[in-house]
Amino acid sequence: MSCVVLGVTAGIAAYKAVEVARQLVSKGITVKVIMTEKARHLVGPSTFRAVTGNPVAVSLFDDPGSPMKHISLAREADVVVVAPATANLLAKMAHGLADDLLSTTLLATRAPVVVAPAMNAAMYRHPATQENLRKLRERGIMVVGPEEGFLACGEEGEGRMSEPSRIVDAVLAFLRGGRQLEGKRVLVTAGGTREPFDPVRYVGNRSSGKMGFALAEVASRRGAEVHLVSAPTALEPPQGVDLIKVETAEQMREEVMRLAPEMDVVVMAAAVADYTPERFSVEKIKKEGQEELVIRLRRTPDILQELLERRRGGQIIVGFAAETGDLKEKALSKIRSKKVDLLVANDVTRPGCGFGSDHNQALLVFRDGRMRETDLMPKEDLAALIWDEIARMLGSADDSSS
Ligand code: PMT
Repeated sequence: MSCVVLGVTAGIAAYKAVEVARQLVSKGITVKVIMTEKARHLVGPSTFRAVTGNPVAVSLFDDPGSPMKHISLAREADVVVVAPATANLLAKMAHGLADDLLSTTLLATRAPVVVAPAMNAAMYRHPATQENLRKLRERGIMVVGPEEGFLACGEEGEGRMSEPSRIVDAVLAFLRGGRQLEGKRVLVTAGGTREPFDPVRYVGNRSSGKMGFALAEVASRRGAEVHLVSAPTALEPPQGVDLIKVETAEQMREEVMRLAPEMDVVVMAAAVADYTPERFSVEKIKKEGQEELVIRLRRTPDILQELLERRRGGQIIVGFAAETGDLKEKALSKIRSKKVDLLVANDVTRPGCGFGSDHNQALLVFRDGRMRETDLMPKEDLAALIWDEIARMLGSADDSSS
């Protein structure tokens, strides 16, 4: 049975931590709560004890039977989650301070750590807090929220702790994935390529990069060495990922072909332009005196096809298919012509799906004809589900080679 250590610090949102504990317990997870001394002023330990069925730890010294409580909890945890995480706790974590049971446990644990900050908007925006959060993210700590809204101090702004279900989802993602991709090298492509025809204009598409970035982030969290070849996006690069920025389909091809021979898995989530302008004008094309502008386009290299032709033994190649209706038919015909191990087909005309959206819904089609239709879900969850399937394939690839 999985064990989650839930740290509760003295934010008004501490009452919501009871719901975090309850939801985790309802999933069959053992929850052990550590409260800071000050958090006890906001919620009573007996509430957590009743919800989790476990004693609540507060002090390094209150259990004579376990003088190394921080070490035993640090070892027991499959995930440590701190909700709410105050500005003070984040500062302590960022600087490695350990002066109570929660901060010593956080320093001693090797388990993944999730923090859900909650504080006044000015405290959250303060450069010191932002710097501390940046450091924590760099160390691979997952930061969930905070959200915008009404704050306990009466102000409105960023600083509200995320809803318990969102925090629980982040914990579950860690528990589900563990470090299943440890030792694997993966390449993910993301974003929409831009094909310029003069210094200021290009032919592009609507891809935001969110799907590819989610795939890269989840793979990195699960222990893979991740290379992310991305066309321009407005997204923050995921932590611990080697980000290679490109603009055009040709540049993406070059980078993908350079890296692919070393990779165990290649996932082509990018929306690569199928056509590029035949000519590039070094000067901005003038509109004066031209009622029409005709741009002739030529086909771009088919990166996925080239990958398949050069695939090395045991390598897993995943393609995406952006379709408009008739998903099943089109996905089946695509996988017949391109022998990928997995084709992730998404209907980009479905509301709340595909390009730019935070959510997606897909039909997964495997090489052996098996299919799996997913619900509409956050792109990060779809990424986790895709990696679950890839990890299964890697497992059987490893088994068959041994
Ligand atoms: O970035 P988001 O806003 O989050 O949106 C996500 C997404 C809709 C872009 C993503 O889910 C998606 O569907 N990506 C693939 C888009 C696409 O180009 O589909 P396609 O059916 O045109 O191409 C099929 C496959 O061939 C894709 O894996 C594509 O990366 C690849 N391809 C396409 C053209 C080309 N010249 N070379 C390629 O390798």
